[in-house]
Amino acid sequence: MDKKVSVIGAGNVGASTALRLAELGICDVALIDSVGGLAAGKALDLSEAAPIQRYDARIAGSSEYEMTEKSDVVVVTAGFPRKPGMSRDDLLASNAEVVGTAVRQAVRFSPDCILIIVSNPMDAMCHVAMKESGFPRNRVIGMAGILDAARFRTFIAQELGVSMENCEAMVLGAHGDAMVPVPRYSTVAGIPVTELISSERLDAIVERVRSGGAEVVGLLKTGGAYYAPSAAIVEMVEAILKDKKKILPCSAYLEGEYEMKGVFVGVPVKLGKSGIEEIVQIGLLEPESEKLRQSAAAVRKLLEKLKGLS
Ligand code: LAC
Repeated sequence: MDKKVSVIGAGNVGASTALRLAELGICDVALIDSVGGLAAGKALDLSEAAPIQRYDARIAGSSEYEMTEKSDVVVVTAGFPRKPGMSRDDLLASNAEVVGTAVRQAVRFSPDCILIIVSNPMDAMCHVAMKESGFPRNRVIGMAGILDAARFRTFIAQELGVSMENCEAMVLGAHGDAMVPVPRYSTVAGIPVTELISSERLDAIVERVRSGGAEVVGLLKTGGAYYAPSAAIVEMVEAILKDKKKILPCSAYLEGEYEMKGVFVGVPVKLGKSGIEEIVQIGLLEPESEKLRQSAAAVRKLLEKLKGLS
């Protein structure tokens, strides 16, 4: 295939991403993991499913970054997962090191790639990735808004007993406890959910979206969600490789948009072959803007902590 995507981290999120990419049939996949044999083993297993599932993508795995050479997109999922009771922010110090190392190595072999950052706390990890890579902001993108919005869409569909396909949702802000679901921009067949669901029920749903990741962690006990996260990653990769100009909520480095500067936070962006091709600015009511500012402040707080660590 003429496109190549590398996935760093062969845990559940990374391996599910590799599988979905292979099945989509839009790129070859290199899977990397520091744990010897893990990436190679999963890549071999995925390759052996190809004749049955009928995909031709080449899937290779290694602990060596040479294999990632000339990737169009590098997805960083490496890092420690949450345990029940932990917030994403509790992973800051350990994952900053893992993500920093992964990005440094990956960009040596793919200096022109687009980085998609998944490891938590994701928005702060985007800052680490930008610093380590020296990439411009269009080529460092955080995955979360699509996932958080998918959780919102799922709960809306379940609440109303309608097709998932009818439900669109908007979630802005950091991928953490301060994320900002925006019901006003969330719709069912074009109808704002605020007209379909009572405000009490909507508040409860919004709360469930905010703790959606933790709900899965609490059930699984070890590790976090991976089916929905990998689906979200692949939607981003597809938008980039196919130059779709698709508008999706992603973590992006703001330079004045939404009256904020120098911080990664979730906003709607247009994804195409150059990565983030536009940051889409939507009108927000003052309480919504205030929540977005608070969300960005939570990211800045983590950055301060990171500085203290180095
Ligand atoms: C979650 C992880 C990806 O929200 O943060 O499930």
